[in-house]
Amino acid sequence: AGDGDEHILNLPPWSKKLGYPVAHNPYGQPSKYESNLVRRTSPGLAATDQANVAFSPLQGMFGIITASGLHFERHHQGWVDIDPAKHRLMINGLVDKPRVYTMDDLMRLPSVSRIHFVECGANSAMEWGNAAVPTVQYTHGMLSGNEYTGVLLSTLLEDAGFDEKKAKYLLAEGADGSSMTRTIDIERALDDAMVAYGSNGEMLRPENGYPLRLVVPGVQGVSWVKWLRRLEVGDQPYATKDETSHYVDLMPDGMQRQYTSIHEAKSVITTPSGGQKLLTQGYYNVSGLAWTGRGHIKRVDVSVDGGRNWHTARLEEPVLPKALTRFNIDWVWDGGPAILQSRAIDSTGFVQPTYSQLRDARGSRSIYHNNAIQSWQVSENGEVANVHVG
Ligand code: MTE
Repeated sequence: AGDGDEHILNLPPWSKKLGYPVAHNPYGQPSKYESNLVRRTSPGLAATDQANVAFSPLQGMFGIITASGLHFERHHQGWVDIDPAKHRLMINGLVDKPRVYTMDDLMRLPSVSRIHFVECGANSAMEWGNAAVPTVQYTHGMLSGNEYTGVLLSTLLEDAGFDEKKAKYLLAEGADGSSMTRTIDIERALDDAMVAYGSNGEMLRPENGYPLRLVVPGVQGVSWVKWLRRLEVGDQPYATKDETSHYVDLMPDGMQRQYTSIHEAKSVITTPSGGQKLLTQGYYNVSGLAWTGRGHIKRVDVSVDGGRNWHTARLEEPVLPKALTRFNIDWVWDGGPAILQSRAIDSTGFVQPTYSQLRDARGSRSIYHNNAIQSWQVSENGEVANVHVG
């Protein structure tokens, strides 16, 4: 270092020649130096790669929008790439005018663009009993934030003349081989749910439901039916397999709780996080994400001593309902052991629980809807690891 930094002292080769021409990559790609930041599957998690999960690398995400190519994937029967010219959306059941829409029909209707998070109900599922996986990509990476563009369900339901007196529920059905069907209650459908064809300013990616998916803000991902082909209006819940035997909560008394669809407030520190290493003592920007299925995030507290003392983090604008919220807080690492935690509080006053509070209510053998406070332990050598405390 005494001789100076060679990267400052020497003129690099790229300053002395022509760069690549325009449209060299007609569809832009990330730098080759970012090739480690990819969706990843957890080895051994599922028996087949079609009924599996690819987790989003939250540790490398900035702000509140997930790059489309890094959006998590969860398929029950593999993904499909459907020709939009051949895709249809049918609306039937308790409607005056059963309708079949082409994509062109849908794209003529009034559209909205809204920023929302989508989280799989199984996010953090591996962590119910103990600290099981090493990084935030695996503990929390079934989570993404997007700007969706599409047509509100209220617009479609009015267009089809739904029976306002009798209609209580909607059945949403996907066109893939999984027979993915979920019941949505009509209040939610008429509130802010939409059929989306756009995401982050372009068409949805095939893995995420191209050309059409359901967006049900605040509700667990399984209801966001991808490759959406049918909506049926009915007067009672449909009790499909993916809401009566899957995506149910095993309670401490051995009973299963059904229809717990809405995500309660949750947060996680994304950096520093498990698998990372702090290089030297001194200042660090601690950054993370908070989200809630009810209202918006009101406050995020951060602790560096395992929950003994809490400090209020800065919420970065925009803070939107049912969207990811980015928080940051200053921290000076003194080189000693530390346990970093974040705790989200939403506009309903709900406070994210500790593991012991969650286990008191729900037991430790559940799968879905784990919103406990995440702990990252910083050792004296700077290594950060996933641990469970109270
Ligand atoms: N829709 C269909 N048709 N088929 C599926 O397998 N998976 C569901 C939901 N919609 C699924 C589906 C589940 S469990 C989740 S969590 C979300 O899609 C995941 O959405 P993503 O793959 O776009 O992240």
